[in-house]
Amino acid sequence: MEAHEKGFFTEADSVEVVTGRNANTEDPRLKEVMEVITRKLHEAVKEIEPTQEEWFKAIMFLTETGHKCDAWRQEFILLSDILGVSMLVDAINSRRPSGASENTVLGPFHVPDAPEYPMGTNICLDQKGEDMVVRGRILDTEGNPVANAKIDVWQTNDDGFYDVQQKGLQPDFNLRGVFRTGADGSYWFKGVKPRFYPIPDDGPVGQLLGHLGRHPNRPAHLHFIVTAEGFDPLTTHIFDPDDPYINTDAVFGVKESLLADLRQVTDPARSAQVGFDGPYWEIEFDFVLAQV
Ligand code: BEZ
Ligand code: FE
Repeated sequence: MEAHEKGFFTEADSVEVVTGRNANTEDPRLKEVMEVITRKLHEAVKEIEPTQEEWFKAIMFLTETGHKCDAWRQEFILLSDILGVSMLVDAINSRRPSGASENTVLGPFHVPDAPEYPMGTNICLDQKGEDMVVRGRILDTEGNPVANAKIDVWQTNDDGFYDVQQKGLQPDFNLRGVFRTGADGSYWFKGVKPRFYPIPDDGPVGQLLGHLGRHPNRPAHLHFIVTAEGFDPLTTHIFDPDDPYINTDAVFGVKESLLADLRQVTDPARSAQVGFDGPYWEIEFDFVLAQV
C-alpha cells in the first residue's frame, strides 16, 4: 500500500483521503474530473449537512430519474436542462466570434433523417395552426452568402407536441424538414406559428420543478441545425419575443440574439404570392456561421 492510499476517513480530511485513494488514476482527465467533483460534492454535503433521510430521498430521486429513461426518454438530460447545466456546457463548447449566431440546447426531439425539400415547401402536414412563412439568409461573419448550407428545422404542432411524441396521431415528419441554400444563401419555407409547450413533466424532473415553484414551459420557438462545409455547425432556435414564457424558459435556452420578429401579413396579394388563402405570420431571420 502506498502512502497516499492510506488515511483514516475524518470529516475534516474527507476530500484529501478520497482524492488520495484515486492517485493512481492513469487517465489524467478522469483524475482531474474526479478530484474536482469530489471536492465540490464534499463541500456541498458539508454545507448542507443532510440528514440520513434527506440523503436517501436524494438517492431515490436519482433512482427514479434512471428508471424513467428509455429509448425515447432521457430524464437525466432533462435534469441537466432544468439545472442550467446543458446550457452551460453548450456555452463553453460554442464560443464564437462576435457577429456569429449563438447556439442553444439541442433538445430531445431532433430526428436525423428528416426529408429534404425544395425551398418554399410547407412542412406542416396536419393542417393545424396559423400559417407562417420563415425566410432569411445564411451568411458568413463578413456578410457573404453561404451556398449549399444545410438547414435542418423542426417545431411542435399547434397542440404543442413534436411528431415523435405523438406517433400514429401526427403524420411522420410533421413540421420538420431539411433545406439547402443556393448561391445567394437565402432560404424560405412554410410552417405554423409556434406556441409554448411543456417539457415532458410526468416524471421526477417535473415533480422537482413543481416543488421548486417553477413551471415546465418553453417559450414558442423553432429549432434549427445549420451546417456548411468550412463552418462551425450551428444548433439553435429562434423565439417569439411576445411569448408569455420568454423570460422564464424552463431550460434557460433563450438568448437575446435569438429573438425573432413575428409580423402578421394581411395583404391578400402577398398571401396569394406564397400560396396561402388568408393572413399569415412572417419571420425573417438571418443566421451567421463562424468559419472553422
Ligand atoms: C426542446 O426544445 O425540444 C426541448 C429542449 C429541452 C428539453 C425538452 C425539450
Ligand atoms: Fe423545442
